[in-house]
Amino acid sequence: MSKPINPNKIVVFTGAGVSAESGLKTFRDFNGLWNNYSISQVATPQAWRADPQLVLDFYNMRRRELASVEPNPAHIAIAQLESQYEVVVVTQNVDNLHERAGSSNVIHVHGELTKARPEVGHDIIDIGTNPIQLGDLAPNGYQLRPHIVWFGEEVLFLDECREHLETANKVLVVGSSLTVFPAAGLLSHARFKAEKIIVSMEVDKVPFGYKFLRGKAGSLVPVICENWIGKIHQ
Ligand code: APR
Repeated sequence: MSKPINPNKIVVFTGAGVSAESGLKTFRDFNGLWNNYSISQVATPQAWRADPQLVLDFYNMRRRELASVEPNPAHIAIAQLESQYEVVVVTQNVDNLHERAGSSNVIHVHGELTKARPEVGHDIIDIGTNPIQLGDLAPNGYQLRPHIVWFGEEVLFLDECREHLETANKVLVVGSSLTVFPAAGLLSHARFKAEKIIVSMEVDKVPFGYKFLRGKAGSLVPVICENWIGKIHQ
């Protein structure tokens, strides 16, 4: 028996497109990260074993970029929803822009750039936007690696996220091509009666029951959020 919908609960599901207007590259757009780097060379456990320096350089570069960008109006509007709703942000992104915009409940299913962990073991260490170098060891003596879910590794917090989608009264999807599973599959757990909107420039396939609004996150998301907050005051 599935749990009842919480009328005050919003789940915001985001991908790289929500951070594009902050200046961070997406993956599959023109000039995206996967047009300039090979997933098999920088984002798999095999890549790490073959050339850990190349992998560290890739994530050190992305962490350096993160230090130089700010949240955009989409991140800020999503954070402002918390003034009236119980908001859970389920993000595929590894940047910390939702948190820096003020969102207080962010679940990173693909890991976080600002965290590291030992090659063996689970202790997660905050590194901010500092680089990881070969020879940087965790307290347990193993080499530190990015706390990123590489292709072929287990995605994080799926059960918890599934439950959030099942009990949400509103679902807002922002800036994802919805091409990477199992993360994209979470959206199918939203309830028929829930209000479901996708904001993106383009999307691989609009999931059943979702309204697709083509446009930029920085322009459309503040309008949607202000509308939802305004409705509470009516
Ligand atoms: N506003 C809204 N949407 C945008 C914007 C924008 N300014 N710019 C780009 N987009 C949309 C694109 O149309 C596309 O649908 O963002 C989406 C980006 O898609 P991807 O680059 O595939 O990023 P994402 O969906 O987050 O990728 C999922 O794939 O490589 C893995 O782990 C990586 O988390 C990532 C996952």
